[in-house]
Amino acid sequence: MNPDIPLQLLGGITAREFLRDYWQKKPLLIRQAIPDFESPIDADELAGLALEEEVESRLVIEHGERPWELRRGPFAEDEFSKLPEREWTLLVQAVDQFVPEVAELLENFRFLPSWRVDDVMISFAAPGGSVGPHFDNYDVFLLQGHGKRNWKIGQMCDSESPLLQHADLRILADFEATDEWVLEPGDMLYLPPRLAHSGVAVDDCMTYSVGFRAPSAAEVLTHFTDFLSQFLTDEERYTDADALPAVDPHQIQHDALDRLKSLLAEHMSDERLLLTWFGQFMTEPRYPELVVGPEEVEEQDFLSALEEGAVLIRNPSARLAWSEVDDDLLLFASGQSRYLPGKLRELLKMICAADALHVDNLGPWLSDEDGRGLLCELVKQGSLGFADE
Ligand code: SIN
Ligand code: CO
Repeated sequence: MNPDIPLQLLGGITAREFLRDYWQKKPLLIRQAIPDFESPIDADELAGLALEEEVESRLVIEHGERPWELRRGPFAEDEFSKLPEREWTLLVQAVDQFVPEVAELLENFRFLPSWRVDDVMISFAAPGGSVGPHFDNYDVFLLQGHGKRNWKIGQMCDSESPLLQHADLRILADFEATDEWVLEPGDMLYLPPRLAHSGVAVDDCMTYSVGFRAPSAAEVLTHFTDFLSQFLTDEERYTDADALPAVDPHQIQHDALDRLKSLLAEHMSDERLLLTWFGQFMTEPRYPELVVGPEEVEEQDFLSALEEGAVLIRNPSARLAWSEVDDDLLLFASGQSRYLPGKLRELLKMICAADALHVDNLGPWLSDEDGRGLLCELVKQGSLGFADE
């Protein structure tokens, strides 16, 4: 993707300009980001998803002014028929994993790394429906899918911002609106992390939230050190050879801190391990139970199937990414990593990006032992699978 081409999705600015001026910094309203956008799913289909066990869904219902009531899915069909005419919202997480047309929307955001994408959440709100003024810790693009929504944005918040007392919902006690717009289908609002916002449905309204994720510093530290510790032996310890005699035996002197700092630095600066951990962590699937492959994949059967016209597709619940380490490549697939020879670069890129893999585009890779092995392994692991014809 050329970062210097003006994009309709970004209101006519380029990806480079968007990243420089708005991303993680300030909001951007884009009228007709996707002109004449028509939601690929309707309210009934969204409600249908919320009946499913493996789909995460929530209902937020307002009773008078407040408090907001939160119910968690999966829901029973009759719960929807008992809802009032107004003032409720159904939110369904990760619809991109269940509806391919919704996953396709993500193609528009390829100017951002795919491992930064969290999911596409879709909400349906009855008139007046809102989840209350709040802030999120992640970047989000709010694309209006159907009907109209009134969006107000406000102040920058943080963990000190006062919230209403509510066991399950993080609703801001103070919301100072600074701007307000009514979004129609195809309009989109980008919000940086921590910006207060409040969206109220004008009529029956569907909103797509393309959400991003970034690990917290606490997550990076705890998960990376956990990962590192697998490679450390009990003998690797704090050492103080050549220490000077203690002046006061009860005092912790700063030379001890220096030793600790070098112990930390020695391990924390291992770039290979940091990369391996990060790739594995960022490709961990949201629903690991949906990334399972067949126990056995016979290479010969696998090849014959492809030669007879079978098509491989990425499991929509899988996450893939790759990186370079010297002359080798590292593939991250749904929380696992694998070193590969540099010659597989084009295959790797194709596996990560192509809609479908078949004899025509795999071509010579099927005669390459490493290439074949890689494809088989990804099928076994559940990240790739044969499309049902
Ligand atoms: C919604 O779609 O109702 C809420 C989306 C958000 O504010 O994050
Ligand atoms: Co939000």
